[in-house]
Amino acid sequence: MSHDAIENLSHENRSFAPSAAFAAQANATAALYDEARADRVAFWERQARELDWETPWTTALDWSNAPFARWFDGGKINIAVNCLDRHVAAGHGDQVAYHFEGEPGDTRTLTYADMLREVSQAANALESLGVQAGDRVAIYLPMIPEAAIAMLACARIGAVHSVVFGGFSAEALRSRIEDAEAVLVITSDGGNRKGKALALKPAVDEAVVETPTVRNVLVVKRTGQDVEWTDKDIWWHELVGSQPETHEARAFDSEHPLFILYTSGTTGKPKGILHTTGGYLTQVSYTHKNVFDLKPDTDVYWCTADVGWVTGHSYVVYGPLANRATSLMYEGTPDAPHPGRWWELVEKYRVSILYTAPTAIRTFMKLGEDIPNGFDMTSLRVLGSVGEPINPEAWMWYRRVIGGDRCPIVDTWWQTETGGIMISPLPGVTATKPGSAMTALPGISAEVVDDEAHAVGNGGGGYLVLTEPWPSMLRGIWGDNDRYVDTYWSRWKGLYFAGDGAKLDDDGAIWLLGRVDDVMNVSGHRISTTEVESALVSHPKVAESAVVGATDETTGQGIVAFVILRSGVQGGDDVVTELRNHVAHEIGPIAKPRQILIVPELPKTRSGKIMRRLLRDVAEHRAVGDTTTLADGGVMDLISQGLNTPTSSED
Ligand code: WTA
Repeated sequence: MSHDAIENLSHENRSFAPSAAFAAQANATAALYDEARADRVAFWERQARELDWETPWTTALDWSNAPFARWFDGGKINIAVNCLDRHVAAGHGDQVAYHFEGEPGDTRTLTYADMLREVSQAANALESLGVQAGDRVAIYLPMIPEAAIAMLACARIGAVHSVVFGGFSAEALRSRIEDAEAVLVITSDGGNRKGKALALKPAVDEAVVETPTVRNVLVVKRTGQDVEWTDKDIWWHELVGSQPETHEARAFDSEHPLFILYTSGTTGKPKGILHTTGGYLTQVSYTHKNVFDLKPDTDVYWCTADVGWVTGHSYVVYGPLANRATSLMYEGTPDAPHPGRWWELVEKYRVSILYTAPTAIRTFMKLGEDIPNGFDMTSLRVLGSVGEPINPEAWMWYRRVIGGDRCPIVDTWWQTETGGIMISPLPGVTATKPGSAMTALPGISAEVVDDEAHAVGNGGGGYLVLTEPWPSMLRGIWGDNDRYVDTYWSRWKGLYFAGDGAKLDDDGAIWLLGRVDDVMNVSGHRISTTEVESALVSHPKVAESAVVGATDETTGQGIVAFVILRSGVQGGDDVVTELRNHVAHEIGPIAKPRQILIVPELPKTRSGKIMRRLLRDVAEHRAVGDTTTLADGGVMDLISQGLNTPTSSED
């Protein structure tokens, strides 16, 4: 019998099968699993054939140089042609590609014909600046249509884009430009955020002083605020606006690089995750169509992610456009100018598919259901989640309050490195359990293993690994192949280790347990932070929680929980006792937190992931470490102040 690497503590009996009506109209049926099992590579070839290839591939998968995969080798394809030209040629030029809504309420409607024209002009503009296939272009923009247009223009001419999230600092931008040796930066004067015009251009000015590879900076006018001007700078509207409206695209090798996207490792400098062309587009379009059940003629699809993250690449730009989706793109934050802004947009655009993150769902839970209840959201029919484990109670709230108890929820597990969704229900097939990503998609093989790489089997907990190559997998780390092999392929031979803990329940459904770096060791039991957090969130007084292991003289580590209460609930020693007992009751006395701290906020990265490292510093009474990647720098002060109030309990 295998020894569990991580304890399996929680048990979930609720299950939600798709309605017969949903199943009957779904894009994906159970037959997909059989087909993929019968011949995995042939299955992916069939998916790839949904795209327009200028030259067909000769080898579907070359894994002889593992872990460096080549998919659809010999094939030639142009991504932008697949996302735009072919839809216009098929008579869909008048279909809306993006409904854009700015934070101040300004709107733009871009049809597929509009997108093709603007991308062609932008492609001509890049070529006029001497940008060539293979050159790197940094994109530092707010969530405006030009972000997608710039990405597609790069793809159209074979330039490699590196999108840097607009909330990152000049230094973060500089190091990414430098690592990729970008020749061009595309930015804007600023963007609208929480009622203010937030400047972007000054960070670019600062970064390019030290990055001599950058020849030009192309500047979109978004807010109209004042900008400094240098001789490298060119206004987007002047250069792009004056270009010819057509551009002849040529096809590129399937393995031609498409983009680099930097992801922060837990240590060291950010990794430039490299993705290529044919396999990437194959998997993102396949997953987008089947996981979200996209119907291009009737759906209005909204993925709330920023283009600065991989979700914005795969499920705001490439997947939806390849599938001829009509999308909503929104510039602002969920709570500006009022906390019902998202639901107002769902009502206004009749959004039918919503894809967002657990952090947003938990924030809305905290604010209360009266806010979403004030809007007509009957247009919604599929809900998605990504980025972190979704606690079962947050899942139930999402289903009931946002989805009106009617919409299937797809909890999608994947990573910047995987390029596309890997583990997820199929909405017309899978009976979902709240909090579980369920099973690997057809064509993907995932396993949960112990320290010796043995499968843990149902009921066991351990490490999530991917056992076969997949089309949208990363092809390496930009400029550092050794680090690629080291980081992902060195723990066990032939297995891609994702860094996440996971367990299989008694039915074989996969439950993600968070990053293994966060797993706690309490008296020799390896306990996942996710399970304790979910137990806390299952209490009706709790909106959100973050759990860390703090050094403990007797038990090795002790469990310390930081908890945000739902709006209107009073903190105090009684609540703390109640919550500790609740955890013991839900998942067992071993998981009872040593200490619970009621806090007003939690430290999160700009993509919404909780930074447990900083909370460990607090729990272990250390000075708080590097907070530069925090979304809100003031949060740690709020938390430390909270520690002096009598709402923590230790025994
Ligand atoms: C976590 C985001 C649980 C996980 C697409 C992964 C999830 C990391 C889920 C990648 C999910 C993402 N359930 N955990 N559905 N989705 N994660 O690169 O730890 O920003 O390894 O990609 O987020 O984050 P990244």
